[in-house]
Amino acid sequence: MIRAIKGTKDILPADIPRWRYLEETVRRIFENFNYKEIRTPVFEETALFARSIGEETDIVSKEMYTFTDKGGTSITLKPEMTAGVVRAFIEHSLGAQQPLSKLYYISPMFRQERPQAGRLRQFHQFGAEALGSTSPLLDAEMIQMAYEVLSSLGLKDLSVKINSLGVPADRENYKKILREFLSDKKDMLSEDSRKRFDKNILRIFDSKVESDQELIKGAPLLIDYISEESKNDFEIVKEYLSKLSIPFELDPKLVRGLDYYTKTTFEIISGKVGAQSALLGGGRYDLLVEQLGGKPTPGVGFAAGMERILLACQNENSFTVDEPSIDIYIVRIDKELDLVVSEIASKLRKENIATDYDYLQRSVKAQMREANKMNAKFTLFVGGDEFKEGMINLKNMKTGEQQSISVENLTETIQSIIKN
Ligand code: HAM
Repeated sequence: MIRAIKGTKDILPADIPRWRYLEETVRRIFENFNYKEIRTPVFEETALFARSIGEETDIVSKEMYTFTDKGGTSITLKPEMTAGVVRAFIEHSLGAQQPLSKLYYISPMFRQERPQAGRLRQFHQFGAEALGSTSPLLDAEMIQMAYEVLSSLGLKDLSVKINSLGVPADRENYKKILREFLSDKKDMLSEDSRKRFDKNILRIFDSKVESDQELIKGAPLLIDYISEESKNDFEIVKEYLSKLSIPFELDPKLVRGLDYYTKTTFEIISGKVGAQSALLGGGRYDLLVEQLGGKPTPGVGFAAGMERILLACQNENSFTVDEPSIDIYIVRIDKELDLVVSEIASKLRKENIATDYDYLQRSVKAQMREANKMNAKFTLFVGGDEFKEGMINLKNMKTGEQQSISVENLTETIQSIIKN
């Protein structure tokens, strides 16, 4: 038997109501902040990701699904959306149409990571990107919007972590300082961190190895070496977050796993999902558009892992959804009335009344069991003497109340009953 690929998951009909609830919450809140949806292709040229996320990052160096297509082009399934959104922003000159583009997305992403709870190879993100303003108020508002989605879902065990990575010159200067600090400890670092020492030294802060964490404990911190402008902007972000009553903590070791960030970065962590605790992450990327060949345009955004969020919601029992139901289930009393039943169903469906009936020649009793199982709001009994007289019995499944309605204006009557 062929099974789903490791690290991918089927979302079955029983899971769908929770997914839809999450998606509807995201759309409602994002649209209240005037973000417009954008959909970009699932695959892009590999170079797009290499140039934006960074060659030395884990995502690009280890985790991408990359293949050469029949035309010889190197293609990659998108591991994140920011690169694709920025590419589309440049390609369609969205900046020329509007000074500030506020965009959002809900989409599958692909990363070949080691699967575990909350870490998949095909997963889903929702996220937002605002292109065109350097205002730190927008950074704070982005965090507010992300936080609002999570709290609207009823999540409570959340912590918002923020940091500033300054501008590239700050970072280059700081990397030298960090390299100096770690130079006599390099041999004691884990193999991964030794590699990072040469290629991407900031990411040593992300190491999960305890001895690495010990070694960097007293390290100088980037936040103490950022430019005046970055510092001032960061102060405004913090001030505005306080005004918005968003609780946050400063985390000077929050370096994020993608190279395009400048200034503000943030993550929201859940205490309820185990090791993969980051529900979402993001930050400012003021140089990315330019780096990808567009006119210099600042940007800020974030993306959230939907599987992780749903896992947190489940573990906190943070929201419930209604059981799926239908409006009408038609029980066919006389076998020869099959065609009549299907005709009635078709009329009701045309009027947007969700209707179903039996296709398996089951007994009246079995059909009634099915009506219960489907959570039907009403059952229609078609057949018997009543039907010969042009009437049909309608039963309200909640109250048990029954009434006889005329076949002639069946849909109108049912519509008015359902509406009440
Ligand atoms: P990221 O931190 O790589 O950022 O991913 C954002 C979120 O996606 C993570 O916090 C996590 O919840 C979820 N996620 C990542 N990898 C997986 C996985 N393998 N399985 C399940 N969930 C996962 C970005 O993607 C940036 N594009 C965010 C951004 C937007 N920055 C600026 N704009």
